[in-house]
Amino acid sequence: MTVTASSTSRAAAILSRPLAINGLTVPNRIVMAPMTRLFSPGGVPGEDVRSYYARRAAAGVGLVVTEGTYVGHESAGQSNRVPRFHGEEQLAGWAQVAEAVHAAGGTIVPQLWHIGMVRKQGEPPYADAPAVGPSGIRVDGTEGTGRAMTRSDLDDVIGAFAEAAAAAERIGFDGIELHGAHGYLLDQFLWAGTNRRTDAYGGDPVARTKFAAEIVATVRESVSPDFPVIFRYSQWKQEAYDARLAESPQELEAILAPLTAAGVDAFHASTRRYWLPEFEDSDLNLAGWTRKLTDRPTITVGSVGLDGDFIRGFSGEGAPVRGIDNLLDRMERDEFDMVAVGRALLQDPQWAAKVLGDRFEEMKPYDAAALKTLS
Ligand SMILES: Cc1cc2nc3c(=O)[nH]c(=O)nc-3n(C[C@H](O)[C@H](O)[C@H](O)COP(=O)(O)O)c2cc1C
Repeated sequence: MTVTASSTSRAAAILSRPLAINGLTVPNRIVMAPMTRLFSPGGVPGEDVRSYYARRAAAGVGLVVTEGTYVGHESAGQSNRVPRFHGEEQLAGWAQVAEAVHAAGGTIVPQLWHIGMVRKQGEPPYADAPAVGPSGIRVDGTEGTGRAMTRSDLDDVIGAFAEAAAAAERIGFDGIELHGAHGYLLDQFLWAGTNRRTDAYGGDPVARTKFAAEIVATVRESVSPDFPVIFRYSQWKQEAYDARLAESPQELEAILAPLTAAGVDAFHASTRRYWLPEFEDSDLNLAGWTRKLTDRPTITVGSVGLDGDFIRGFSGEGAPVRGIDNLLDRMERDEFDMVAVGRALLQDPQWAAKVLGDRFEEMKPYDAAALKTLS
């Protein structure tokens, strides 16, 4: 692209352009990254959750990806404060969230989530169910208390994702994002470290992608053809930062091609620092490679606007502000299409308005105390 920044700032010129994802037009390139907040007692997102998302849409976030929200399977989650994407009351709460974001001028997709073998002792209604995963192995390599998924487990979970996607369309969301990242269930299948299956769902990268691809295909059949399906994935795992799904672009392509063929409309490539090259001999990041290999719109993420990666944020560390010139350079080269922002937006609901209004001097550093409220 060529950007002429006359009266508008360079950031606004680059980030204000609309983008089509299948049948959806997102008004600009700024995405709110999915962030678990634990403010939904009984799995029901209430008025505070609604206004939290709407505030960010009103300030210029083009696409909200909600916090991970559990699909309707007994082992999908463990916390009773994480919102659920099933159940009458829960979906009624979500419908109001979607309505509020739309009224504020934004678009919104729920991030559909099954945590798999990450599950430890759950709270009701997840208290008694076993943790399940491809091989009953946890991300740290231990066997824990879970079990390998049977054929009927696979069918039940595929069905739960499809039902959640259909519900999303029915109650007014603009698409869905499948959580295939960070060492949770779908990623446990993609990654050889947790997938030791000897049936059709384990083995080479294509076989390890089969479960996720079947979820994508079944979701695709359960929603309208133009309803966007976004797939989030990562190399790193919450419990293994240096883990990698793919050591080369060829290995990455083996994973992405079946997902694309199954009907993914856009990829969300999760990294902890967007400026790091993914493979040797190229400075493309993971989103850049994903776009090149799939020709689908891609979202980048990871320490946008901040210096200091988010893993340290969980242990209570803050992060100073960092400029976004490198990000804008990459978008100007069409390396990727959209940018997701996590902690900077959690900290400051006005972040998008400040970027689009060239008010960089007003940016706030990230303070982990922000996790304690839904401001
Ligand atoms: C409090 C918090 C909760 C998160 N929860 C999720 C989640 O539910 N799903 C997900 O895919 N990523 C989750 N992430 C990761 C973010 O989406 C994002 O990838 C990460 O924070 C890096 O972006 P940032 O550096 O802009 O914060 C979470 C991050 C934070 C800080």
